[in-house]
This record gives sequence, C-alpha cells and structure tokens, in this order.
Amino acid sequence: MFKDFRSDTVTQATPEMRKAMMEAEVGDDILGEDPTVKKLEALSAAMFGKEAALLTVSGTMANQIAIMALTQLGDEIILGEETHMYNLEVGALAALSCVQARPIPSRMGRFDTSDVKKAIRPRGIQAPISRVLCLENTYDLNRGYPLPPEYQTEIAQLARNNSMSVYLDGARIFNAAEALKCDLKELAKDVDALQFCLTKGLAAPFGSMLLGSQDFIDKARWIKQRIGGGMRQAGHMAAAGIVALETMRDRLHEDHANALRLANALAAIDERLVTINQVKTNVVQIDFEQLGKESGFITEALLKQQIKVKPIGPYACRMITHWGITAEDVDYAAAAIQKVLK
Ligand SMILES: Cc1ncc(COP(=O)(O)O)c(C=O)c1O
Repeated sequence: MFKDFRSDTVTQATPEMRKAMMEAEVGDDILGEDPTVKKLEALSAAMFGKEAALLTVSGTMANQIAIMALTQLGDEIILGEETHMYNLEVGALAALSCVQARPIPSRMGRFDTSDVKKAIRPRGIQAPISRVLCLENTYDLNRGYPLPPEYQTEIAQLARNNSMSVYLDGARIFNAAEALKCDLKELAKDVDALQFCLTKGLAAPFGSMLLGSQDFIDKARWIKQRIGGGMRQAGHMAAAGIVALETMRDRLHEDHANALRLANALAAIDERLVTINQVKTNVVQIDFEQLGKESGFITEALLKQQIKVKPIGPYACRMITHWGITAEDVDYAAAAIQKVLK
C-alpha cells in the first residue's frame, strides 16, 4: 500500500465519521432547517469565540466568500506572496471576487511591518482602496509556519490603524494552535473573519467553516447561495465535521512529532536536505538542489517504493504527516530516500 505524504488532504474519513454521516439528523439547509449543520456552526463559532459560523464546501469557497463580503469591486487586498489565496485559487480573487491582489514577501511566515506599511495605499482619486489585510496560519503550505497571537495582534493593529479589515485563512489553524500551545480564541481574537478546513489534519472528507460577526456571516450566507454553494441535506456532511472537531484535534501532536522525526532522519542522511528549525508543524520541505537531484527524479524513484511525495519546484519536494502516516511509515520513507540518493 502507498504511503501518501503529498498532503494531509489525502486523509480518509474515520469509522466514527462514516457512522455519524449515515445516522445524521438532516433537513433542508438552504431553508435553514438542518439541525446537524446548525450544531456544527454553533460548535465552530464557540470554539473560536466568534458570533457566528457558516459551513462551506471548501476552503477556497470560504476564502472567496470572505473577500467578497469584506470588499467592494476593485478594492485591493494585501496578502503574502506564498499564500494559497494568491497562488492556488485559480485566480478567483480577480475572476470571482473582483479585487486586486497586492502580494508582499514574508520571512518565516511573517511580514515586515515596513512592507505592510509600504503596501497600504494613501487614499486618492487614482488609487484602489486597501481594504483587507490577509493572514494565513499556518503560513505557507510548503512549510507550515505557525504565526503566534502576538504577531497577529501587532499586524492586525497596523491594518486597523489604516481602516482595513483583517482576514485569516486558517486552513491549518489547529496545527498552529497545537504547535504554539495556545487557545484557538487567541488566534481568532484579532481578526474580523477567518476560515478553517475540516479536511486537512482533522481528516473530514469535506467542508470548511467561515467565522465572524453575525452581520458578516449573514452576508456570507447570502453570497454562498449566490455562487451555488447552498446545499440541501448538508447535515450528512456536517456530521463528519462534528466528529472531526471532537475527536481529531487532540492527536495533531503525533503528526508534528512524526514530521520532526522525518526531518531529523533526513538531516542524519545529509544535513543539506532540510532546515530542522523550520519544521514546526506537520510539513517538511526537502531541498535536493545541493545534492544535484531533481524533484521529478526523486518523486518517480520514491513512487517505485510505494511512497508519494509532492514536487514543489525543480529541486524541492514536500512531505506532510497526517492521520494516515505512522512513525514506522516515516522511518520507511527516510530509508527509501537514503536509498534513492545513493
Ligand atoms: C492554506 C490553505 N488555504 C486554503 C485551502 C483551500 O482548501 P480547499 O482545498 O478545501 O479548497 C488550502 C488547501 O490546501 C490551504 O492549504
């Protein structure tokens, strides 16, 4: 059987999720009558200390609904140049949300405040309005840096001082909270709105939750319907999400320990392969450039040994640990990489 390290999105529903989906009490969610969706939304909002929540089909949908709700046509949003919203949402910021993206660099997941200040436009007849500052936590899906609450507070204050909203793409926020040993509410308190994915480390088969004030969520619900995201008996889907929130968070430290185990094993093979102090959550980026091996070659060779990794550049690959990966799988993968490099 393949050991699939490409992403934590490859996780499959647990037996408990499958049972909950089968047995879910459901209704027509577009009519506001699905009790299981309501339960998941209430649970999510309470967990993050926000007024309200909305179940969406995916993280991409949640992100775009949020931007549509927080902006007007032609507004500018400032976001990191390595973020999912900027790189991996098929140009939806321009094509659907009708905003202009202003990407800025980051170092270990953090913006320099001077870069943010430079990107915020003074108001003027010719300038787009800088409307939203977007954070991602964990930041950079090829590295997974957790951003501490103090950093979020500081950067959010800067945005607010310039009359901007703050949005957080928290696809892997549970990994961030686990790595930082902090409460989810701490990570949510400085942002106007955020989304998290049920489908990453928590292993649910579908769904993301968008959170914010009641007014924001009311607007978001209407936009979700407009773009075809309304679902009928979505309680079957929500039931898996409830199990994910209740049973899968407490084990994320195992994924982080496995990622570190992998990084240490790779460094023992050749320390140029990884930067150990960059491994903070469940993501390991491996750099084969100094060993003169192309990622295509590595990926193909590992596939022959039943291991899947994701090439993320000509010489770099990414490996993510998750519910489907054990410490033995990590040891097997490290041994396989050593064999391929010989
Ligand atoms: C940081 C981040 N944001 C958003 C998403 C989008 O989630 P989805 O695949 O559910 O659309 C992902 C998915 O990998 C992600 O990593």
